[in-house]
Amino acid sequence: MKEKVRNSSVAGIDLGTGFSELAILDDTGRPTIIPNLDGEFKTPSVVYVASQLAEIVIGTAALGMGVIHPERVITQCKRDVGTNKVYFTENGISVTSEWAQAEILKYLRASAIKHTGDDQAASRAVITVPAYFKENQRQSVQRSAEIAGIEVMGLINEPTAAGLSHGLVEKQGDRLVLIVDFGQGTFDCSLVSFGGGNATVIASHGDNQLGGKDVDDTLLRLVLEQFDTQHSLHITPESHPADWFQIWQQVVRQKERLSACSLVKVCARVDGKQIMLELTRDTLAEQIHNLLERAERVIDEVIANGKVDPKEITHVLLIGGSSRLTPFQELIRRKFGQERIHGGNVSPDLAVAEGAAIKAAKVVLSSGGTVVDCSLRAIPAPAISTTDVMPHSLGVSVQDPVSLIETCSSILEKNQPLPCNASRQFGSVKDDQRVFVVSVLQGEEGQLTKDCLVVGQRQIELPPRPPGQPSLEVRMGYDTSGMVNVRFRDLVSGVHETITVNFFNE
Ligand SMILES: Nc1ncnc2c1ncn2[C@@H]1O[C@H](COP(=O)(O)OP(=O)(O)OP(=O)(O)O)[C@@H](O)[C@H]1O
Ligand SMILES: [Mg+2]
Repeated sequence: MKEKVRNSSVAGIDLGTGFSELAILDDTGRPTIIPNLDGEFKTPSVVYVASQLAEIVIGTAALGMGVIHPERVITQCKRDVGTNKVYFTENGISVTSEWAQAEILKYLRASAIKHTGDDQAASRAVITVPAYFKENQRQSVQRSAEIAGIEVMGLINEPTAAGLSHGLVEKQGDRLVLIVDFGQGTFDCSLVSFGGGNATVIASHGDNQLGGKDVDDTLLRLVLEQFDTQHSLHITPESHPADWFQIWQQVVRQKERLSACSLVKVCARVDGKQIMLELTRDTLAEQIHNLLERAERVIDEVIANGKVDPKEITHVLLIGGSSRLTPFQELIRRKFGQERIHGGNVSPDLAVAEGAAIKAAKVVLSSGGTVVDCSLRAIPAPAISTTDVMPHSLGVSVQDPVSLIETCSSILEKNQPLPCNASRQFGSVKDDQRVFVVSVLQGEEGQLTKDCLVVGQRQIELPPRPPGQPSLEVRMGYDTSGMVNVRFRDLVSGVHETITVNFFNE
């Protein structure tokens, strides 16, 4: 029987560093952002945790608590996804980014249930992740969703989602689009070719430590320096937690105003001492010069990896709240010219969640299901497909027989279109070697194993063979649903072993 799915039950979620959004398709089949329990379309990705877990508060209300209890407010936890960082421990529970992201997801789901009146609202979702998120980070996002009671229909790369919401897939005509997402915590860039109903990601690259947060930190430093020089008052998050938090919030507000006004003033008073810092767009440009250089390097690398002539790029799509920074817009204008730049009629902050909602409907439709309550006419046809690329290289660990140093021997190179597979042959290292450890690594050719991420491991016992000669074959495949298949074949005895590493990708 064909599956009938209510449009409110499948959602698209952008789990951002600064803000998170949830979208569903409305009754006309258009993606629409659901207001949260506070009536806002963007939920600050902020979690306040009271002592003993007595209260958990999400969003703007949590940000407000920062003035009184900054040490209990978790902000920008997306930057810690995939690490073991524990913010604090309460009632035996380690509060980590995975836990905090789960709380944000629970809140978004509760908002969708309240707004739609459907108790199954957002029970399934496509969640967006930065294109270069590593496998362990993708798995962590998936676990957060499971904790929040949301079935993950797929993870989709943020720039790909933005491309979907701009309707670039559906429009006629081939186009080569550079999608640039300058958010709060991450800078993400993808080169996507749209045409014939397909979106093909040619190359992706990003800097997961570059975003609006870094602009804030730079400006905050200027303000704190003024306190130091004018009043010999040294303010740190430790010495003045609440004041520091308020100044930080003020800096963010004034930075954002600077994209509409040519001059803003940051005013702050601490311990009866006050400062006023005037900021112009020129000062901003000077101050964030090095951040913009990093952004430019990412863009250049994507174009180089995609092996295209920059002149062939037909559109540059700017998304993410920080793409409103005037010095950044100038940089893009200088590089590509005004005519190619598109922000379009889609809000740069909401495009990613909207694209994820379109993808969620596509997942239902492509498996033969229907989305009820929606006018199907308006939903993009299921035949439209998206092709992504390997977000990073995968290989196995090999040991040098002389130096015994272990390095990565890569098998699947990054930026290859999915699905892909390749094999490589290896020899044993020692005489009479019987035990072989196959460590599947996320890493580049020649990178030290200790610097790579081990994503799967298997120990295999085989008959001995002469060392040095190629006698073992490792074949690796990566499919479009993010499954990595590793097949290990002994070329001497013909023994096979398969390691399946279940990654959740697009
Ligand atoms: N007018 C503006 N001028 C400059 N920066 C702005 C403006 N409006 C929003 N921002 C910045 O945009 C950032 C939030 O953007 P966005 O919501 O796209 O990020 P995010 O999706 O939460 O983060 P990420 O995609 O990095 O995980 C914040 O740093 C915010 O200060
Ligand atoms: Mg974002």
